[in-house]
This record gives sequence, C-alpha cells and structure tokens, in this order.
Amino acid sequence: MRVTAGHRRTSTADLFDALVGSYDQTGVAFFAPVAERLLDLATVVPGEHALDIGCGRGAATLPLARLVGPRGRTTAIDLSAKMVAATRALLVQHQLTNAEVHVGDAQRLRVGRGFDVAVASLVLPLMDTPGAALGHWLGVLRPGGRLALSTVDAVDAPTRAVNSLFDRWQPGGIGSPRPISIRPYDGARLLDQLEEAGAADIETVSEAAVLKFADVEEWRRFSMSTAQRAMWRRVPLEEQPAFLQQVADLLSGTGGPDGQLRVEWQVRYTVARR
Ligand SMILES: C[S@@+](CC[C@H](N)C(=O)[O-])C[C@H]1O[C@@H](n2cnc3c(N)ncnc32)[C@H](O)[C@@H]1O
Repeated sequence: MRVTAGHRRTSTADLFDALVGSYDQTGVAFFAPVAERLLDLATVVPGEHALDIGCGRGAATLPLARLVGPRGRTTAIDLSAKMVAATRALLVQHQLTNAEVHVGDAQRLRVGRGFDVAVASLVLPLMDTPGAALGHWLGVLRPGGRLALSTVDAVDAPTRAVNSLFDRWQPGGIGSPRPISIRPYDGARLLDQLEEAGAADIETVSEAAVLKFADVEEWRRFSMSTAQRAMWRRVPLEEQPAFLQQVADLLSGTGGPDGQLRVEWQVRYTVARR
C-alpha cells in the first residue's frame, strides 16, 4: 500500500491520542526539562505573542503562558485531539487564562501571523517535509521573531543497541527505516534546512540529557509512553518478556552508584530569527 501524507498524519494523531494518559507522566524527566531549557534559550519575555507547535501535553505551553504573562498570549496546536484536551485541562487547572489550544496540523498552520516567538519542542522529525515546515513556521513570525526548536541529535550506545532490538520486528526486517519519530535528527541537516528556509541569526547548542530509570520496568513504561510505542506494537505479546530481558541485559551496565539505569541523549537547541 502506498502511504500518503494524509495516512501518516492520521496514524500520528492516533498514536499520540493513545499516549495521552502516560506521555510525560511516568516520572522520568525528559520532555519538561527539554522544553524549559529551550524556553530559557529563546528568552521569552512578558507581553509576547507565542506559538507552541505540536504542544503535546503542554510541556512548553504552560511555561510559555507563565513567561508571556497577562499582557501576552500563547497559542498552541497539536494534531492529536486528546493531547489538545489534556493541555486545555492543565491550563484551566493552573488558572492560565492567556493561552488557547487548538487541533491543527503543523504543516498547514491556521493560527494567524505576526508571532514574536514560535516553539517546536521535539516535533520537527515528525513532519513529512521538515524543510518546508521550517519555512512555514518562520512565515508565521513577525520580522525579527524567533523560532525555537529542540531535536534529539544522537543517542548513546546502550540506547542504539536497544533500538536495534526492535529492528527484528520492522516490516521489511533489519535495515528497513525506523519510524521517523525515534530516529535522531542530524544537526548539520537542520542548520542547512534553516538556512535554505531563510532563517537569520541561527544559534545552536547540543547538550546532554540524562534519563534515569529505577529499573527496566520503569524504562518499559517510559518507552511505551513515547512514540516508541509504535515499535512495541510490532513485538508479538508472547515475545515481550524475553524482549524486556534483553533490554535489561543491555542496560545493566549503565547503572551508577545509585543503582539507577542511565542513558544519555544529545539534545540540540536551536533559535533562529525570521
Ligand atoms: C514528541 S511530542 C512533543 C510534544 C511537546 N512539544 C513536548 O515537548 O512534550 C510530538 C507532538 O507533536 C504532535 N504532532 C505530530 N505531527 C504533528 C503535526 N503534523 N501537526 C501538529 N502536531 C503534530 C504529536 O501529536 C505530539 O503531541
């Protein structure tokens, strides 16, 4: 079957709808600290109009709403209706009335223009045509407005080994491309694409993010709460216990003195201007 962009968007929305109950809720710190660091580097100030593209459960939306304050405004969009509903509920719970959240496609934004800052944290690799998406995102900014992106640049050897375990169940076998969402995004490619899209004053830094798991069961819960669930769906149920044991063996050498398992990913933070 030919997979069209429309099919891909439906399956992405279905996947993130299914993740809404656990995404960023497992106690493993990753999405929230990455979003917070990105907002530090984007230097968001009170009164600004901010856009959060692919907001998920609001890892960037809530801090953005706080940073822009009562004189500012935050708009957030996501393809997943359930992620949108969850972020809306969190805004209400935290009494943040200066933000609105809509279901929308990041590749065809219908949110108006003239934003001071647009943020896309851990979203770019999910786009069908990332280069075109970057041009589109720059286009909704006011001249001089900032586009702030986070992407995973690289993962450590234990993570690569675990990812390779999933390859056995890839349609097409080992060597077939992995779902785009869990592949690292090459930093040099990102910078080329931003330049091609006409971005100015590009500043980028890659920093280590350490993810800690009490045990392999916590790793499993985290993995199932992310886009990696798409890969779990291909592992036959009866094979999953043996699969998890292999993961435990691969991660066993990563434990520190505190006994926690520990993996390290490089996260790239990039801020550019229109
Ligand atoms: C890895 S999550 C990141 C969410 C959030 N930014 C965070 O840092 O926690 C990616 C999000 O992008 C959304 N997404 C994927 N493709 C999208 C698209 N074409 N348009 C809008 N949102 C999209 C997914 O539904 C998901 O909520």
